[in-house]
Amino acid sequence: MARTLDTATREALVERVRFYRDLGLTEFYRRPVDAALLTADPDEQPGAPGLASETWETNSKPILFQEDQPIPSRKPTPAPPQVAAVPAAERASALQLIRDEIGDCTRCALHAGRNRLVFADGDPNARLMFVGEGPGADEDAQGLPFVGRAGQLLNNMIAAMGLKREQVYIANVVKCRPPGNRTPAPEEANTCTQFLFRQIDVVRPEVLVALGATAATYLLGARQPLAGLRGRVHSFRGSQLIVTYHPAYLLRDPRQKKEAWADLQIAMRELGLKPPAKD
Ligand code: URA
Repeated sequence: MARTLDTATREALVERVRFYRDLGLTEFYRRPVDAALLTADPDEQPGAPGLASETWETNSKPILFQEDQPIPSRKPTPAPPQVAAVPAAERASALQLIRDEIGDCTRCALHAGRNRLVFADGDPNARLMFVGEGPGADEDAQGLPFVGRAGQLLNNMIAAMGLKREQVYIANVVKCRPPGNRTPAPEEANTCTQFLFRQIDVVRPEVLVALGATAATYLLGARQPLAGLRGRVHSFRGSQLIVTYHPAYLLRDPRQKKEAWADLQIAMRELGLKPPAKD
């Protein structure tokens, strides 16, 4: 019986391959396919439009991204002077305490328009953390960060680094959706970042990636043009901080994906992650 990928998986693969092409990566290798990904879907016709199977069919060499590859062990991270490190086994509950303290927050005006508060997503012991600006409509509906179109692109960026989304930690400058997705006002951001900073102190990632100007501004404590902040390593509360473009901006201007990829490679270098194989 012919087995095909289900529609959602195939669309995700198409999107992933497009993303790699935008980065200038064009060689793909096939590895054994997880049987769980394959379905005998009666609605799917073999040869249906989507990802051409020959895209994945070449010979033998290792693949561009290895989803089962564990993240190499931690480098010692200098502790932020102001807080003691939370032992790895206690980080999930320490984060839960912060979430509990935030509660049904009314500390700033953003609470009035929110459906769900978006705390964070991912591994409390992650070596890599991403910080975005604030929830959009999808995130506000689901209560999770980066689950809309920008989130799909972020997932692809994470996968291009050889990681899974579940291996990183993702949060935002503000936890409630600004009306119309406007930039959070300084009083909103400054009210909310006390909790973001405490999340960072608990997770204590080796590398923090600021996605876009708002995250860079509130992590670095000064508003500066993104161009001057990218391409180098800053430091924030004991983590190495890399600044790159926000995925929503990359969706509007895909030509900048190569620049973003260069930034992610700095993050990979700091984490000791090997860049994907290129031939
Ligand atoms: N944009 C952000 O900055 N954060 C999200 O969670 C989603 C979109």
